[in-house]
Amino acid sequence: MGHSAAVWDFRAATEMTKDQNGVSQVVLRTPQGASARVSLNGAQVTSWRNEQGEELLFTSSKTTPKAQKAARGGIPICFPQFGNCGSMELHGFARNRMWVIDENPPPLPANDSSGKSFVDLLLKSSEEDMKCWPHSFEFRLRVSLTTNGDITLISRVRNINGKPFSFSFAYHTYLLVSDISEIRIEGLETLDYLDNLSQKERFTEQGDAITFESEVDRVYLSSPNIIAVLDHERKQTYIIKKEGLPDVAVWNPWEKKSKSMTDFGDEEYKQMLCVDAAVIETPVNLRPGEEWTGRLQLSIVPSSFCGDRLGLDRSVL
Ligand code: BG6
Repeated sequence: MGHSAAVWDFRAATEMTKDQNGVSQVVLRTPQGASARVSLNGAQVTSWRNEQGEELLFTSSKTTPKAQKAARGGIPICFPQFGNCGSMELHGFARNRMWVIDENPPPLPANDSSGKSFVDLLLKSSEEDMKCWPHSFEFRLRVSLTTNGDITLISRVRNINGKPFSFSFAYHTYLLVSDISEIRIEGLETLDYLDNLSQKERFTEQGDAITFESEVDRVYLSSPNIIAVLDHERKQTYIIKKEGLPDVAVWNPWEKKSKSMTDFGDEEYKQMLCVDAAVIETPVNLRPGEEWTGRLQLSIVPSSFCGDRLGLDRSVL
């Protein structure tokens, strides 16, 4: 029984359920069978599946998500700090907070809503968070699934403070890959990057694509707005399109670090790669009443579709 997009009720394609820990989560579906799941714990996308029902995001088999602890996988939101570049807990507190459904979000441009199954989530500064980050904000996240199965995340951060504040941010995206040794990233070559494995020292990328044979923990700076992650074995390519997010963090813990992480299997580094659209080097500065928007769109296409047709080096959204 097929559904035509014209009669498909996208709001009805949004279902609220509970995960195994009783935490509310929202499931988005398309008429063709693609789906995504978003937990209210951290507003974390915990699953994204294509029309064949195949999972596209990595989640560790060892993860034990609970209140105050993000799942190891999916797309955690890093805010108001990425990594350890400030005084806060690693990657900020947003991923460890319970978000609420935003029933009445301020409007987004029409093409961010039409033909999509979506959910709006909201996080506001709590008294507890004000102790470590004394700024009043509203963080709105819309997660959408388009008819062709692309997932889009739109973050809007508003300063409702009397004073300016600044923050860094990342969509910490755990891509599921067939074998890390077979993966190449295109779109980051020739860029400068900060190497977290060398005290954030600045280097310039020399290769014609990024490949992996040991631990990588880098922040590529001022990147193009389209990045491709090619999975040679699966003959599939993730296309990452971003807006308002100049940097890209790339992380794979490799063998030794994997063994030191309690919520990650010793061999699981072979099946994951984090490629995070982010704002890291130059934090966002918001004056009172101002709002920042950062967009991420993930698609998966057959690798034969890539290369020139995507215009990777001319990429402006
Ligand atoms: C990456 C960082 O983005 O996230 C790494 O660059 C870090 O340094 C990794 O180890 C995982 O962080 P966490 O807090 O989820 O264990």
